[in-house]
Amino acid sequence: MAEARYSICVLASGNGSTMQAIVDACRTGYLNGSVVAVVSDNPGAYALKRAREAGIQAVVIDRKGLTQAEFDAKLLSFLRRIGPDIICLAGFLRILPSGIVNEFNRRILNIHPSLLPKYGGKGMYGIRVHRAVIENRERVSGCTVHIVTENVDDGPVILQRKVDVLPGDTPESLMERVHAEELKAYPEAIKTLMEGSGSVQQSIA
Ligand code: GAR
Repeated sequence: MAEARYSICVLASGNGSTMQAIVDACRTGYLNGSVVAVVSDNPGAYALKRAREAGIQAVVIDRKGLTQAEFDAKLLSFLRRIGPDIICLAGFLRILPSGIVNEFNRRILNIHPSLLPKYGGKGMYGIRVHRAVIENRERVSGCTVHIVTENVDDGPVILQRKVDVLPGDTPESLMERVHAEELKAYPEAIKTLMEGSGSVQQSIA
């Protein structure tokens, strides 16, 4: 098989199902890329186990015992060493400092479980997002993949997938349906970045 064109580094703090979707999309050839490393700030992250099982380098930069600046410096140093074409935040619960965002300008993606700019920002992650969507009686929700900028859950949107909010939905049931869309959205967005034209694609060409 021809060598994958783009190298991808995934940053994940938890379960890693969106990371797995990216790994699988590379393995099937849907994406012309390969996941070269998975980095977590949480030694107990299931994402690390998934990475090891897939034969991918799994790296822990434990957030405990490190200041924010120390953590950021270690992460930057690792990213410089492996020099990935694309960095994917997959349930990564740290905010990237401007130094990293600028150095990998327009090459860092994030997935968020709402239709941004709605229900984004600091403190908005996981089930909290879906709870807020239900409380506000939204009729539609979904997920967003976007380019990471210095502001949390901001930056150019690559794609969104919508999900109807159904009568009787709970935060959990909505989360489940949005999550199913996230597993499709992330590989699609990465493909758009790799194959699309315009400024987004030029950033990794
Ligand atoms: C995903 O739902 C993702 O959108 C969310 O964390 C989950 C990670 O799932 N991210 C955020 O809320 C970021 N603001 P995973 O660990 O199974 O990939």
